[in-house]
Amino acid sequence: MPSAAPSYRKRTMARDGYYSSVIQNVSGANQEEEIEYQRNKIFLGWTQLDEPYYIANRKEDVILLVAPRGAGKSFLLRSHMGRAYLGGCKCFMPIDTKAEYRTNNYADGIQSSLQKLMPGEYPQPIPTKMFMPAFLKQFYPSGVPAYNETFEFGFRDMSERAWCTLLNVDPDNDTEFPIIQDIAEQIQEGQINGWDGIIDFIDSDSVDAHPATKRKIRNKIKSAQKRRVLGDEYRDNPIDHLYRYDDNGKEKQGYVVVQNLMKSGNLPENAIEHQLYTGMMMEDIVNKLRDGTMTGPVITYIDEAHRIVPRNENTISKKMTIDYISQYRDLGVRVVLATQFPSQLPEQGVLNQVNKFIMPKKIDSADRKWILDKTDVFSFGDYQRDTWKDIFSEMGPYDVMVVNKNPRGDEKRWEIVTPASPLSRHKT
Ligand SMILES: Nc1ncnc2c1ncn2[C@@H]1O[C@H](COP(=O)(O)OP(=O)(O)O)[C@@H](O)[C@H]1O
Ligand SMILES: [Mg+2]
Repeated sequence: MPSAAPSYRKRTMARDGYYSSVIQNVSGANQEEEIEYQRNKIFLGWTQLDEPYYIANRKEDVILLVAPRGAGKSFLLRSHMGRAYLGGCKCFMPIDTKAEYRTNNYADGIQSSLQKLMPGEYPQPIPTKMFMPAFLKQFYPSGVPAYNETFEFGFRDMSERAWCTLLNVDPDNDTEFPIIQDIAEQIQEGQINGWDGIIDFIDSDSVDAHPATKRKIRNKIKSAQKRRVLGDEYRDNPIDHLYRYDDNGKEKQGYVVVQNLMKSGNLPENAIEHQLYTGMMMEDIVNKLRDGTMTGPVITYIDEAHRIVPRNENTISKKMTIDYISQYRDLGVRVVLATQFPSQLPEQGVLNQVNKFIMPKKIDSADRKWILDKTDVFSFGDYQRDTWKDIFSEMGPYDVMVVNKNPRGDEKRWEIVTPASPLSRHKT
């Protein structure tokens, strides 16, 4: 079983939170054992034969983790994220509803009772920044906890697609969409300023639409304004923290970036704002990869994916996720999805593109069957259907089954994996 006694080696961190290149050997651990983290395959844990298991992180890989609450979803995502980061990937987690992906940037790794590391690995902080959208501040009368950086997007950050999501306009709606396009363009060109400017524009003759349509859009604008989602008071863009430039102007890895959406432990009802912000950040990642401001790979970890990529809505975050999977992989984007309700994700462009499924022992039996059917495991397995039951019942409480839909090279079609622990400690 996994080595419970890892080497304690410390990296010293510069004051600004970035690692210095100095690695201090604290316990005299064997230098040769040091792990080289890679960007294209991420150490995930151990097989039942006690061999290390790596999950591929190539451009064609789309991972879906299906698990109910308490089954170890966040543990596994943090584990993947930390090692992907050390392998050189940029990691973005747009939806943290419990502030649990927060890392203590100065404390050693995860608590020893949970520590399962590979020989040569050592617990270490993963430089992480947690951003909370300013529109959530209202839920913290005595102030937002200090580990959050507050930010908000403003008018000039809004794309056509973003306006559609904010105003709840379906881009396929032929009467409303052209008006939104005009508004977005006018704002980008600096012709319109502020909410009043938008209203005046709609009321003017420049917008050629039926009065009822105008009224409808005007109401949508007013209601968006009331929700105070856009502003310039806390101008910052979390994506700018995924990378940095060194003194020689060379682009480097920055922080793991997490968007904290915590409001008393639950995702608030106003999911539209989260979809909007997540989608806008996903757009920004693409723009920055395209113009060379930032280099890939960038992994977007979408936890609670059914909220951000809903089957039956047409929001910017869903569109961006589908576009990431279908168009932007060559730019260096990767997607890891996690949900407890896989049937609420869109089939076309998302579920039908997933090539790696991860499920814990504690999974709804219908979901398990769905995954096994979808990946054709039954027809390839060496086992009869009824012995699968034994395989699952022998899994440890936090073991996961990783199913490869299209195994390549020496990849197995499925494997039972005992997850490695996260490297970093959250909270304090
Ligand atoms: N692989 C694991 N090994 C040991 N304990 C685990 C493991 N995964 C999760 N746990 C324990 O279960 C708790 C809940 O896990 P978590 O990842 O938060 O679940 P989820 O996100 O699925 O609700 C963790 O705080 C941890 O104590
Ligand atoms: Mg969780």
